Amino acid sequence: MQNAVPVFVDIEPESLGLDPEKLEQAITPLTKAIIPVHILGYPARIQEICEVAESHNIPVIEDASHAPGASVQHKMLGTFGTMGVFSLQQRKAISTGDGGVICTDDEEVAKKLWRLRSFGDDELSYNYRMTEFAGVLGQIGLQKLGRHNKERAQAAQYLSKIFESHPRIRIRHPRPNETGVYYAVAIEVDISDASSAELVSRLEARGYPIRRVFSPLNLHPHFNPVAKPARGLPWEHPSYVGSMRGIRYENLNLPVSYKYCRGRVLELYTHPGISESQLDDFATDLLAEIN
Ligand SMILES: Cc1ncc(COP(=O)(O)O)c(C=O)c1O
Repeated sequence: MQNAVPVFVDIEPESLGLDPEKLEQAITPLTKAIIPVHILGYPARIQEICEVAESHNIPVIEDASHAPGASVQHKMLGTFGTMGVFSLQQRKAISTGDGGVICTDDEEVAKKLWRLRSFGDDELSYNYRMTEFAGVLGQIGLQKLGRHNKERAQAAQYLSKIFESHPRIRIRHPRPNETGVYYAVAIEVDISDASSAELVSRLEARGYPIRRVFSPLNLHPHFNPVAKPARGLPWEHPSYVGSMRGIRYENLNLPVSYKYCRGRVLELYTHPGISESQLDDFATDLLAEIN
């Protein structure tokens, strides 16, 4: 984190992305960048987020790692912010094994990234080069992306029809004017956090690629260490005067994240080419569990 202090802002319930209103309240003179994530390929409210950012003149680093090919009003995700980042690690829709891509239309940022890319001739850096071999894999992935995204969307629509009138299961979809790519299908289940953990482990044991959506990051042990790490913590440094001073991350009040990201939303990985009978099997098992 280069000694940056993350300030977590709550999400909004529909996209599970950064809430623009809460973002506005969290900005201080120390805010250096805003990092929204388009989680599971569902677009965050990126236009409003960018409006807030622009009004404060703060760059947006849009994490579109789950969302290559997704769009809002026909504009691709990853092109709204000052920078758009796309991880290409092995689980992503385009994978080069590991690595990633950064998009920007800001000339200065592009030059800086280029300078930092390879150890840094003029500026000290690390090795962020992509091999040609990885580049070729990425190009092939890009060619297949449209077809794969379409197949993932079809699988989500198929499941949606099955659960259409179920009172406790909802397949989530992007809002009108948005195109999502269903990196994973977000399935909202109206059960307790404890029951969802048991449900997921039973479905996983039957081989379904399902898990609970990422848990709130402020609860991660890195931000709540029991013992002080030798390298120190930037938010506890005496010179730090920002909004996280004297606050323990796990005590942050993020009610929407806590409601949805501790068990209520599950993510199902539907690989391209998944058959209707595979989806039927999953639906039958999920219905048997929830009914
Ligand atoms: C949304 C999101 N952003 C960033 C990353 C990190 O990407 P990488 O592992 O390529 O650094 C991941 C996971 O790999 C991710 O899911």
